[in-house]
Amino acid sequence: MFELCKVTDLEDDIPLECVGPDDEPIVVVRHNDNYYAVQGLCPHQEAPLADGEVVNGTLVCCLHFWTWRLADGEPLEEADMPLKTYPLQVADGVVSLVD
Ligand code: FES
Repeated sequence: MFELCKVTDLEDDIPLECVGPDDEPIVVVRHNDNYYAVQGLCPHQEAPLADGEVVNGTLVCCLHFWTWRLADGEPLEEADMPLKTYPLQVADGVVSLVD
């Protein structure tokens, strides 16, 4: 189990950039009491997705507004490739990647 952040590090609908096991950026979002983790860099031109905005369960890139569903990384507005998503476990106030 790899710890990404504490529950208390997160504000609702505010993306938080964390560091994955291979030093890769991973963005964690809490939305409606659900926790999501997606790749940290936009697949378009590598903007940090932690600078994006959460809108109704989607994540919108700050640069050209490509948009994905947080739940499964499926591309929506403009985006033509999915985001990598990571299964999470939340226990004892800690958000971790599931092995
Ligand atoms: S860099 Fe994210 S949409 Fe272009």
